Amino acid sequence: MSNRADPCVFVIFGASGDLTRSKLLPAIFNLCEEGYLPEEFAILGIARPKIDRAEYRKQMREQVRQAEGEPLEPAKWKPIEDRLYYVSGEFDDPALFEHVKQALAEMCQQYRIAPNFLFYFAVPPDLFGLVGDQLARAGLLKEDDGWRRVIIEKPFGYDLDSARALNAELRKGLRESQIYRIDHYLGKETVQNILAFRFANGIFEPIWNRRYVDSVQMTVAEDSGIGKRGAYYDKAGALRDIVQNHMFQVLTLIAMEPPISFGGEDVRDEKVRVLHAVPPLSRDDVVRHVVRAQYEGYTSEANVDPKSRTETFVAMRVFIDNWRWAGVPFYLRTGKRLPRRVTEVAVEFKRAPLMLFRDTPVRSLSPNTLILRIQPDEGISLCFNAKVPGPFKRLETVTMDFSYAKYFDAEPATGYETLLFDAMTGDQTLFHRMDMVEAGWQAVAPILEEWKRDTRSRIPTYPAGSWGPPEADVLIERDGREWRN
Ligand code: BG6
Repeated sequence: MSNRADPCVFVIFGASGDLTRSKLLPAIFNLCEEGYLPEEFAILGIARPKIDRAEYRKQMREQVRQAEGEPLEPAKWKPIEDRLYYVSGEFDDPALFEHVKQALAEMCQQYRIAPNFLFYFAVPPDLFGLVGDQLARAGLLKEDDGWRRVIIEKPFGYDLDSARALNAELRKGLRESQIYRIDHYLGKETVQNILAFRFANGIFEPIWNRRYVDSVQMTVAEDSGIGKRGAYYDKAGALRDIVQNHMFQVLTLIAMEPPISFGGEDVRDEKVRVLHAVPPLSRDDVVRHVVRAQYEGYTSEANVDPKSRTETFVAMRVFIDNWRWAGVPFYLRTGKRLPRRVTEVAVEFKRAPLMLFRDTPVRSLSPNTLILRIQPDEGISLCFNAKVPGPFKRLETVTMDFSYAKYFDAEPATGYETLLFDAMTGDQTLFHRMDMVEAGWQAVAPILEEWKRDTRSRIPTYPAGSWGPPEADVLIERDGREWRN
């Protein structure tokens, strides 16, 4: 990694929105503070509100302060604020894009920036195509004198067909190498560490397969509800919002074969193979092995249809049909309004034979489990059995623990810092390639179809603060296992 990003202008469409103030500008602030941004750098915000540059700067200063949770040191914020420009207008108005063009030319001249532009589409998904099209028409995507890259927020499509249609629209003006489909989960240190953990250590790889692994559990739990995002969420639901992208990305990192290099294409080639190896679910599989549910009170949330059947919880079992993983169940579970916010992957190894303990009071041996904690308390734990001191042969499960915070003394970042930096340096490794997006949609397509068809069966509900409906327990208990809560 070079120390500084390429000189560029970071252009945000949707610059007055939540994402800009809570994630993008704080991430730029952190990158600048750490010295990762070049001198030749500026930001252009574009949004609807008719305010001037001074007002926009004032608003952002206040909002980034709130997001950081502490006063912004003027010496650190000033370099960003000085380079923060704003243009207002409607995205369907070609005149806006002419203003953008002029503003970019001025900024490049004033700060001697080579004309490299990173466009961030922090706008509702139905505007992705429009903004891309307008940029292309204004000639802003041509790479005659510098690079042009576009970062697209999720969700990338609503299903396989719409994802393909959106891609076709973007590809009219852009090459695949210019499109950065973001998944902020991939920016998380602990998600990236899965690769280091697996491939920089010799002792795990030999047992990372069906001979030694009994099952894998992945949990993405949130204690919060949908907040103010009812309009988006009620159309999406947990399967589209979390499983198809964030969880599948983590799944691919856990299950992929070693890539031949850490280059973007090699890593993504291996990741996509994992998704291709997920066998298509039959209707019966969906009914038996996928559970959807809603938290109690969901249908009274703002902008949610009172008769909504949208799921806020999903639990499912998937297999990966290849030599490494055939027969090993992967249990995925995600939901809102669960007891606590936690994202983790637990790899449970096969139990040791009990024979040795047959004449002792030991009745069962807990399996060894390796837990990769992605958030909040980032770290890795290994559970194993140890003898309880004393004359009897009693065993207890103990834990060997590694904590990022204790070891590296590092503040957990949002994930956006890494991703923005990578996009500014042209590294696509942590971004979705189109075939990965398609493979993700393909894997969930039978579930979406079955749920669409079945408009009558009861959607289970669960009380806020619980681990989901009893049906989710049945799903895993049927296989003789249980959720780690
Ligand atoms: C987003 C989803 O992609 O990820 C949200 O749209 C979810 O619904 C969020 O809350 C979770 O991200 P994190 O980083 O807080 O785990």
